[in-house]
Amino acid sequence: MILLAACSSASRDEAATTTTMTTTTTEVEAPATLRGAGDEAGVRVGVALPASRLDDADATALAAAEFSALTPENEMKWSVVEAERDVIDFTAADELVAFAEQHDMAVRGHTLVWGQAVGNGMPDWLADLPPDEVRAEVGVFIDEVVGHYRGRVPRWDVVNEPISLAGPVLDDNPISRALGPDWVAWALDRAHAADPDAELWINEHSVESLPDKADALVALVEDLRAAGAPLDGVGLQTHLFSGAPPEPGAIAELVGRLRALDVRVAITELDLPLVDGSTLETQADGFAQVVEECLAAGCEEVTVWGLDDSASWLDAFLGRTDTDPLLFDEDLRPKPAHASVREVLLAAA
Ligand code: XIL
Repeated sequence: MILLAACSSASRDEAATTTTMTTTTTEVEAPATLRGAGDEAGVRVGVALPASRLDDADATALAAAEFSALTPENEMKWSVVEAERDVIDFTAADELVAFAEQHDMAVRGHTLVWGQAVGNGMPDWLADLPPDEVRAEVGVFIDEVVGHYRGRVPRWDVVNEPISLAGPVLDDNPISRALGPDWVAWALDRAHAADPDAELWINEHSVESLPDKADALVALVEDLRAAGAPLDGVGLQTHLFSGAPPEPGAIAELVGRLRALDVRVAITELDLPLVDGSTLETQADGFAQVVEECLAAGCEEVTVWGLDDSASWLDAFLGRTDTDPLLFDEDLRPKPAHASVREVLLAAA
């Protein structure tokens, strides 16, 4: 609740023509939306959306009202933009960027180099190429995409999942083998040349729960800093697959270590599935714990990986139909986790 002091003309005596000023108080409700609460806290609140959702008027109205940032869920991935070698198609990504611009939502470009996903988020055809051609193709793809959106997409997840699955080493994949040991810095340099004004990020998963992997991420950031690579930020995906929040303090500690290296930090893909024994209330507490720790330690953005429980990737990924890991239910109604995240944002304002 915000109290505003107002000065008003209260009485006018005809003869003396005096005006008396009195002070009244007006109660202004705190913002009802995550976006409004995030604006007050100076925090971007983002959502991943697929272009297919743009036809759903209720979903788009909700997304624009509740979120100030947007990540294209798949549409900027190499496997979508260049499914066929040398045939570039920005149609779906352009639709999402236009939607974001229309609603003043900041786009997180996702993602340019995702070596672990060759044959998945990366095109199949890349797997068959000799290393020198992979290297050339990675460079051209970065140039094409970052160049296409220059001035419109303010930040990129340049390298997704640079650390091996469980840590503690850099990932070994067709792209890292082709580019050599400095592949992450190489990709950052190339993206920087394509848009010197864009923020450049790396993005990693499971670091909140795997200490060795967190150490490897911090070591990578130290190396990139020492090499003078144009790294601006580190995204923590924060898919909480187990259905439980991380150990209390884990997020705060990791964010603090990263911030000490002078990089921006964001939660980029948050979801928290329901599992046996959890309730909507424990889910709400889990979301609140993660967001609170992150903001207190200096995160500047929290993005959830999907708008509502009808549209989460986790159902397919975990082979279930009922993970319900997001902030709105299947009928687009806010869940208890929406309220708890909003409270945390308002408390940070
Ligand atoms: C997921 C999408 O949500 C799915 O639709 C797709 O089938 C696979 O990729 N980490 C990432 C995201 O960085 O790009 C992934 O998105 C989820 C895990």
